[in-house]
Amino acid sequence: MHDRIAIVTGGIGGLGVAICTALAAAGCRVVAADLAGREDRIAAFRASVADLGDRIRFEPVDVADFDDCARLIGRVERDLGPIGILVNGAGITRDATLRKMDRAHWDAVLTVNLDGVFSMCRHLVGPMCDRGHGRIINISSVNGQTGQFGQTNYAAAKAGMHGFTMSLAREVARKGVTVNSISPGYCRTDLVMTIPEDIRRDIVARIPVGRIGEPSDIARVVAFLAADDAGFITGANIPVNGGYFMDF
Ligand code: CAA
Repeated sequence: MHDRIAIVTGGIGGLGVAICTALAAAGCRVVAADLAGREDRIAAFRASVADLGDRIRFEPVDVADFDDCARLIGRVERDLGPIGILVNGAGITRDATLRKMDRAHWDAVLTVNLDGVFSMCRHLVGPMCDRGHGRIINISSVNGQTGQFGQTNYAAAKAGMHGFTMSLAREVARKGVTVNSISPGYCRTDLVMTIPEDIRRDIVARIPVGRIGEPSDIARVVAFLAADDAGFITGANIPVNGGYFMDF
């Protein structure tokens, strides 16, 4: 993994920062790709990773825009070199029961959470196959496995990610490219901390390990799957949810 170039979409978000940090600590040069224009958050991100020096940089992208994804990848490959690791971490929620859900809530979540995965992979998978190496890691959600009240849009996108992951994994398995997903449970991120407190308390009470997840709990699994010697793991989904949902 030493000096591999990694892109993490949603790179300055709740899980993204921990993922970027873990990949940098494992020796990668990391691009945290996220929406432009939120100067306070970008500055806070830069401050939080300052001691990793030039191993992590910020690049703007809107994953909902197919062409913007191509421009990001072109820019990174020109400036840094071939991208070996892609982490699709960009995700949003627009929670509402279906009876109250607007078309715009549906479209926003599907466009960012699922179309964004398509766009990033579509632009990168060819070059990865040509080079005979690639690690693609899609950040899904336990709610894509179980469904969740108020999340028909989000759960549909996150469950869709699994079908996408398994299909692409088969297409590129002979080319040295692995494609896996991780299904985080409830972790300490802004996304989760904005759930109304009474609802969140009930959710945490149902987590067998008795605590909410930390972003680092997810990041260590990303680093594991991204490793050069993880080439026999593909088309898999790794749940990291404190025992909240178990399946085999
Ligand atoms: N199961 C069953 N019934 C429920 C329920 C639940 N979980 N939650 C609420 N209800 C019931 C309510 O009691 C209420 O019943 P009555 O009409 O009989 O009074 C009815 O359903 C309507 O509920 P609300 O008034 O709460 O509806 P609302 O429109 O105000 O809110 C909601 C709906 C915004 C979806 C809200 O319930 C909510 O925020 N839920 C949390 C959703 C959630 O867990 N999101 C996860 C975000 S984090 C994430 O996504 C990261 C990740 O990957 C894990």
